[in-house]
Amino acid sequence: MGARLIIVSNRVAAPDPKGTPSAGGMAVAVKAALKNRRGLWFGWSGQVSEEPDPLPRVIDAKRVTYVLVDLSKNDVQEYYNGLANSVLWPILHYRGDMQEYSRADASGYLRVNRMFADKLSPLVAEEDVIWVHDYHLMLLGHELRARGHRNRIGFFLHTPCAPPDILQTLPLHEQIFGSLVHYDLVGFQTANDRDNFARYLVARGASPTRGGAYEFEGRQVKLGVFGVSIETKTYMRLARNAGRSAMVALVKESLSDNRLVLGVDRLDYTKGIPDRIKAFERFLEDCPEWRGKVTFLQITPKSRSDVKEYGEIESEVTGLIGRVNGRFGDAAWTPIRYVNRSYSRTVLAGFYRAADVALVTPLRDGMNLVAKEYLAAQDPENPGVLVLSEFAGAARELEQALIVNPHETDAVASAIKHALEMPLDERRDRHAPMLSHLQVNDITKWAEDYLSALADGRQTRRLLD
Ligand code: UDP
Ligand code: G6P
Repeated sequence: MGARLIIVSNRVAAPDPKGTPSAGGMAVAVKAALKNRRGLWFGWSGQVSEEPDPLPRVIDAKRVTYVLVDLSKNDVQEYYNGLANSVLWPILHYRGDMQEYSRADASGYLRVNRMFADKLSPLVAEEDVIWVHDYHLMLLGHELRARGHRNRIGFFLHTPCAPPDILQTLPLHEQIFGSLVHYDLVGFQTANDRDNFARYLVARGASPTRGGAYEFEGRQVKLGVFGVSIETKTYMRLARNAGRSAMVALVKESLSDNRLVLGVDRLDYTKGIPDRIKAFERFLEDCPEWRGKVTFLQITPKSRSDVKEYGEIESEVTGLIGRVNGRFGDAAWTPIRYVNRSYSRTVLAGFYRAADVALVTPLRDGMNLVAKEYLAAQDPENPGVLVLSEFAGAARELEQALIVNPHETDAVASAIKHALEMPLDERRDRHAPMLSHLQVNDITKWAEDYLSALADGRQTRRLLD
C-alpha cells in the first residue's frame, strides 16, 4: 500500500445522517481537497459525553475513512470553548485584548492535544503523510514526534496570524506557537501571515536557512503560503443549476423587483457584521432613492454559542437590525432579512447567483471562502459585484473587487451604492480576471501545492494520485 494521507482537524465534515451542512471554511476546504484522494480524516465527532468511549468511532465512506473521538464536557469547555476559541481565536485575529485566558483552559488544551496524539499514534504507518489543520491542534506535531513518529507532518493555519507583539500576549506562547517548529511545513493563507510568524520565530532566536526554512532548537521548519480556495468548477455548475431549488425560487419571487445585497457569515465578531449593518443604514440614509428598492439578506448561522463574546455579538446584531428595519422599513418592505440558520451548498449557490452585491466585510479573516464562492457563482455575462474588506486574506488575491476598510462606514455605504449602480461593462471587467484566477487557483491546486511542498520531492506521486 502507498503512503496514506492522514488529515487531522478538530471539526470534521463526516457524512452526517441528518445532512446538516457544516458552516466553516476549514472543513469545507479539507472535504473538497480529499475528494479525489484516499485517506483518513481524524478529529472530534462533535459529540460531548460524560464518559467518552476510549475507542474512536470509525466510518468507512468510499475513499475516506473517518476516525472520530468524543470529548468530555470538561474537554469541550477548556479546550474548545476555552483556549481554542476564547484565547487563540481572538489572538490570531489581532484581538489579544479580547482573550479570556485561564490556566485550567490551557491545561485542557494540552490534555486534548495529547489525547489526540495517543489515539492517532497507533493508526500511523511509517510512510503516511500527516496534515494537521488549524489552531485547535498546534501541539499535535510535537506530541506525535514525542511518540517516535518520523513521518512528514505538516500544519496549515486557516486563520490569520497576528504579528509577534500580539502572539506574545498568550501566556503560554512559547509552548504553543513555539511548538509549530516540530512540523516539517507550516502553511499560511497569505505572505503577511507567514511573515508575521517568521518574525515571531526570529524574535525567539530562530535563524533562517538558505532553503527558506527556519532553524530553531535543533529543528528545521519550512514556512509557506498556500491561499485556500474552492471547488471553482463545481460551484459554477451548482450556481448555473440553482434555479431548480424551490427555496431559491421562493426567495427570488419574494423579492419581486428588488435588488439583492447578500451577506453570509458565521455569527462571529471577526466578521464585522455590526459595522456592515451600520454601513447599510448609512447607505439608506444617504440614498433615499434606493429605499424600498433593495433588500439586504444576511445569512448568519450561529457559532460557538457557549463562548461569551459570541452571545454578546448576537444581541448587538439583532439590536442593530431591529433599529434599521424599524427606522426605514414599512408594512410592505423589510430592508434587512436576517436568518440564523445555515443552507446547503446548492441553495447558497443560488442565493449567490441571485445577489447583485455581496458584502464580505470582516474585520480580520484568514481567507474568506464566501468571497470566492460568490464570484464563482455569478453569471459571467451579467455578474454581481463583490465588496470586500481589505483585511480578508481574499483581498490579496481578488484585487478587482471593491476593496473597503470595514471600519469606515461612509466608504462601505458608498461602495454599496457604487456596486448597485455599476454599469455592465465595468462589472464584467472586474469579474472576469477574478474568475480566471479562481479557475486556476482552485482547491485542488491548494492541496497539491501544499502536499508537494510537504513531501519535498519524496512521496509526492503516490499522494497526488
Ligand atoms: N456555509 C454554508 N452554509 C451556510 C453558511 C456558510 O455551507 O449557511 C459555508 C460557506 O459556503 C463557506 C464556509 O461555510 O464555504 C464559510 O467559510 P469562510 O471561509 O467564509 O468563513 P469561516 O466560517 O471559515 O470563518
Ligand atoms: C473557522 C476555523 C475552523 C472552524 C470553523 C467553524 O473556519 O478556521 O477551524 O472549524 O471556523 O468553527 P467551529 O468552531 O464550528 O468549528
